[in-house]
Amino acid sequence: MKRILITGALGQIGSELTVELRKRYGTDKVVASDLRPDSPTGIGDGPFEQLDCRDGKALLGLVRKYRIDTIYHLAALLSAVAEKNPQKAWDINLNGLYTVLEVAREEGCAVFTPSSIGSFGPTTVKNFTPQDSPQRPNSMYGVTKVAGELLCDYYHHRFGLDTRGVRYPGLISNQTPPGGGTTDYAVDIYYSAVKEGRYTCFLKGDTYLDMMYMPDALKAAIDIMEANPERLRHRNAFNVTAMSFCPEDQAAYIRKYIPDFEISYVVDPVRQALANSWPNSLEDYAARVEWGWEPVFDLEMMTRDMLQTLEKRKKEGIL
Ligand code: NAD
Ligand code: SER
Repeated sequence: MKRILITGALGQIGSELTVELRKRYGTDKVVASDLRPDSPTGIGDGPFEQLDCRDGKALLGLVRKYRIDTIYHLAALLSAVAEKNPQKAWDINLNGLYTVLEVAREEGCAVFTPSSIGSFGPTTVKNFTPQDSPQRPNSMYGVTKVAGELLCDYYHHRFGLDTRGVRYPGLISNQTPPGGGTTDYAVDIYYSAVKEGRYTCFLKGDTYLDMMYMPDALKAAIDIMEANPERLRHRNAFNVTAMSFCPEDQAAYIRKYIPDFEISYVVDPVRQALANSWPNSLEDYAARVEWGWEPVFDLEMMTRDMLQTLEKRKKEGIL
């Protein structure tokens, strides 16, 4: 039976992954933690601990207190926030990961760490980017993601630690707002469409990026940790993908439900540069073969689900 600790549990992924893991393994078996305190609109029942993932002593204490055997390490700064404060991003993204890996080594925990499409750079092939591609990112976020992939691989090879992870594309969800990334537009667009019928996008209309709906992202995080280790040739950086689209494509799908929806563009040069340096789409053959990865949602299904969910909330007065 797994006993899980999640770092960064109040974020976009963690707030939903906590609920999903509790359904699967039991409420009291999944400890949520975050730098921020929990709130009434947080992640519901079950243990919560305030934790800075860079604090090794506190982390070790929690792992022992709850007899944790698996850590989902989600605490990090996302791409746009990291570019505003690269020194802090280095500290949280890499010293945080190092601290988690050291505690995991001492206590024999398995560790899930998400990498990102941001680990690729302008010299990587842009379409159907292969699993094993050159990674020369030109952002601090990307630097920390590549270094993190390597660090996790090192702990596996050197210490036999059970480290696993995926390279997530941009994630779209409707529970917790995204934490300051380049792909946030793809979430914001649905909220604005339902609330105002229009959206001003910070990326150019023809900017293609790889994307995924949150239910598939949660499935990936759970399935890879359940996978038979003997089948894993890769470990910490599986490409996973579900769809690739640009803002114009997304607007066209939204118009199927909200015909008068309007999109305009005021480009943010920092986030546009980040997007331009990332792949348009990933190839995820290794994940499919090594642990049976298969997404459910495409752009059409996701758009329908997002708009239905947000419309319902609007009618209930909670949007
Ligand atoms: P988020 O920004 O929504 O949440 C991160 C959480 O970490 C926040 O709740 C924050 O309070 C917490 N945190 C920050 N510093 C901390 C610290 N020192 N100690 C403990 N907690 C701290 O991020 P997310 O979208 O949930 O992303 C989680 C992971 O997934 C990150 O590694 C991110 O790079 C990766 N990822 C996310 C996406 C995406 O589109 N959301 C895509 C690819 C990869
Ligand atoms: N969604 C993330 C970001 O834009 C990608 O890792 O930062």
